[in-house]
Amino acid sequence: MNREIIISPSILSADFAKLGEEIQAIDKAGCDWIHVDVMDGHFVPNITIGPGVVKALRPHSDKIFDVHLMISPVDQYIDAFVDAGADIISFHPEAGPHPHRTVQHIKSLGKKAGIVLNPATPLDCLTYLMGDIDLILVMSVNPGFGGQKFIHSQLEKIRAIRDMIDESGSDIRLEVDGGIDQNTAPLAIAAGADTLVAGTATFRGGPKYYAENIRGLRG
Ligand code: DX5
Ligand code: ZN
Repeated sequence: MNREIIISPSILSADFAKLGEEIQAIDKAGCDWIHVDVMDGHFVPNITIGPGVVKALRPHSDKIFDVHLMISPVDQYIDAFVDAGADIISFHPEAGPHPHRTVQHIKSLGKKAGIVLNPATPLDCLTYLMGDIDLILVMSVNPGFGGQKFIHSQLEKIRAIRDMIDESGSDIRLEVDGGIDQNTAPLAIAAGADTLVAGTATFRGGPKYYAENIRGLRG
């Protein structure tokens, strides 16, 4: 089956001193979504940006803000990210006691909800969420940092989730995040992914290469 591939550059690899300009540049270079990595120094060993920065960035692009929350607890911050302009909010099931309730909350605010699976997280947490979620994000690195090496064992997980999605008949995007470049993107796509996050591979070389870099990921 031929799926339209969505490229969601992670702004973690952008120049943080000029994030607004960087977002405008990837928008112009032809990205589909904008991936925002939110880290709290507790759920993952790094601290990045909060809802105030997301709000400041919102006027710089009309593209979908694909917000990846690596924070725990997660529930009390959902409203702030929705108010800031997030379109999709993805969270890790380990980040709160009631993932189904978290999904319900995101959906009640009119936004799309995603579940993120770490490399060691098994698939069973998805079973009773398939009818409620809009996106499944498979981490192909351990979350916390850009520039890590793609973990190949996750290809098998992507294939298994692709089967689950197709069997469910639900309209769910299958996104992959971590170590995606021109070599690993085709592997992820062949395994069934339809949405690719790429930080290092998008921002490599600076703004004059963004369009070429994004095109290279589409295969
Ligand atoms: C890792 C983040 C990723 C990361 C990807 O915790 O979720 O989005 O920025 O970076 P690259 O593409 O450099 O592996
Ligand atoms: Zn991410």
